[in-house]
Amino acid sequence: MVESSAIDRNLGLEAVRVTEAAALSASRLIGRGDERAADQAAVEAMRRALNSLDIDGTVVIGEGERDQAPMLFIGEKVGTGKGPKLDIALDPLEGTTITAKGGQDALAVIAMGSQGRFLNSPDVYMDKIAVGGGLPDELIDLGEKPGKNLENLAKAKKCDISDLVACILDRPRHAELVANVREVGARIQLISDGDVNGVIATTRPESGIDIYLGIGGAPEGVLAAVALRCIGGQMQGRLLFRNDDEKKRAADCGITDLDRIYSLHAMAGGDVMIAATGVTDGSMLRGVRRLKDGAVTHSIVMCSKTGTVRTIETIHNFAREPALQPIDG
Ligand code: FBP
Repeated sequence: MVESSAIDRNLGLEAVRVTEAAALSASRLIGRGDERAADQAAVEAMRRALNSLDIDGTVVIGEGERDQAPMLFIGEKVGTGKGPKLDIALDPLEGTTITAKGGQDALAVIAMGSQGRFLNSPDVYMDKIAVGGGLPDELIDLGEKPGKNLENLAKAKKCDISDLVACILDRPRHAELVANVREVGARIQLISDGDVNGVIATTRPESGIDIYLGIGGAPEGVLAAVALRCIGGQMQGRLLFRNDDEKKRAADCGITDLDRIYSLHAMAGGDVMIAATGVTDGSMLRGVRRLKDGAVTHSIVMCSKTGTVRTIETIHNFAREPALQPIDG
């Protein structure tokens, strides 16, 4: 049976308007050393833009619960309520620390899907493994040791393990993982933040990254899964719970098997789409460029049904589009 889809093609451009608004607003705080203010600016602009869309949306993946940041909270209703019923996964500012420090690869990102098709997860950690497209099915396995996954990947890519580069978040919790990867001879690109971008990089040959490994946020895991559904690639994720409170929050989201390894489709099923706008310059997107009375943004929008990937450069004129004027500017 063909599932009817709530994902209309026109939604792509609407979604880009939402990430553009968040990126424009956060861009005022680049390098200002205030993560919270940058996040808040992105959240408020994203909420305002989302609420102007003719959708009946529910936020199922929000960001900020874990670190008490301002958030578009899980369960929040968004849109005018007039259009299709959609589930929304979002991260108004993926890379709050990057933005505060004026670093690379901060994004505003939003994904949309039919009701009930995104993994409904609290904001906990997730162990992740991902590779790009064009590889044999079921190549990666989170239940296996990193060395085994690297060996299988090298075989599939017909290269030596030492030719492979793994992207890993630079965190003390990854000391053993890093040691294991180096032990088998693979190389590593450590990133300070931003693992949505790290996972997507596995799909872009020019990034030089072959595999993503390690623990990051679960919301970012679901967003990355949506991107791979659109552009191709394989990914698995397993939620990690640090205490009883996190387990209880998972139970509240309907999660019963705490050790489950989620496939790409279990994290993001049905027709999905995702849009992202660069806040700071990065490997995939250019950051916001401020002009005298406006700005230029660079965005990407992808759709699972058609596999279309569009990049969009937009010139914003604040005099004619005052709603985009950053809230505090
Ligand atoms: P935010 O800036 O959106 O909070 O997340 C940045 C990030 O690096 C994510 O890309 C990653 O999944 C997560 O934080 C890792 O969490 P932690 O910084 O706690 O290791």
